[in-house]
Amino acid sequence: LRDQGLADIKSADVLKKVNQVKVELLGKKGPITEVLRGMRDLTPEERPKVGAYANEVRDKLQAAIDHRRDELEQAAINKQLAAETLDVTLPGRQVPQGQPHVITQIITELEDLFIGMGYQIVDGDEVEEDYYNFERLNLPKDHPARDMQDTFYITKDVLLRTQTSADQPRSLESHDFSKGPLKVLSPGRVYRRDTDDATHSHQFHQIEGLVVDKHITMADLKGTLTLVANELFGDQFEVRLRPSYFPFTEPSVEADVTCFNCNGKGCAICKQTGWIEVLGAGMVHPHVLEMSGIDPEVYGGFAFGLGPDRFAMLKYGVDDIRNFYLNDVRFLSQFYKKG
Ligand code: PHE
Repeated sequence: LRDQGLADIKSADVLKKVNQVKVELLGKKGPITEVLRGMRDLTPEERPKVGAYANEVRDKLQAAIDHRRDELEQAAINKQLAAETLDVTLPGRQVPQGQPHVITQIITELEDLFIGMGYQIVDGDEVEEDYYNFERLNLPKDHPARDMQDTFYITKDVLLRTQTSADQPRSLESHDFSKGPLKVLSPGRVYRRDTDDATHSHQFHQIEGLVVDKHITMADLKGTLTLVANELFGDQFEVRLRPSYFPFTEPSVEADVTCFNCNGKGCAICKQTGWIEVLGAGMVHPHVLEMSGIDPEVYGGFAFGLGPDRFAMLKYGVDDIRNFYLNDVRFLSQFYKKG
């Protein structure tokens, strides 16, 4: 019994088995207990001998069980330690670091430039009233120029703004001219019901600039736009103004910059003209000032609206605007600035 018991204990390979063997050998129904229980049938001479021997066997088995249990517990701990070992000499894993979107980079760059010239940055609403997006910009309900901007209407009077110009009347009506000139830069998303293709997106960005003060001239506009071109493309760029039409500016212009690709010589990108059209602008229409309660005999100003998406396409040679909105990190990370 003793040897068989010891063998069983040794071969128990998990703690549960050890406990099981213990119950079998030393439990209430086990052989040792039985022997001890049978003592009363023995003669007085036999009792101490049998008792002593039974106790000895029991102690041996108990010790063997304890030993085996310790062994198994220690083995389990060793196994766990081995599995959880940390090799502190391994090289670290690189955590990829994100950076601002290329459009955000351009907007921030221009914001910094204009803050330096005393402009305030305003953040208009993307859900706007027809009234501010169109009517207050000299575009009444039946105006044909509304067709230039296919519009997402939410209700008859509420829409997704088609241009950051909607911020113009809002800035005009809330400005206190006794505190100085109005100078604001208003970047943000705009929406048009265009079918998406390489050069159109139903959602894109604009940066609106508006300056109103006494004695503002078109030269101020051209100087400001030249600064923008130089900031974004470099010093060698010139700005050219061409007559155009917007209902809220008079006169209206479109601005071209020297083609960055051929430096004004003429190439496929600038359609051999040497110039690239980058934005719309003009002198604020007197009626727009009037509608905001500003006397056009005293005050005047200029406004411009440029598209950072288009700037980014030109600057980096991106041929499909949709790339900016697919959020493919392989594309976007090309514009990450080092450091
Ligand atoms: N809002 C005009 C557009 O989206 C651009 C513009 C802005 C023109 C400011 C003149 C003055 O086409």
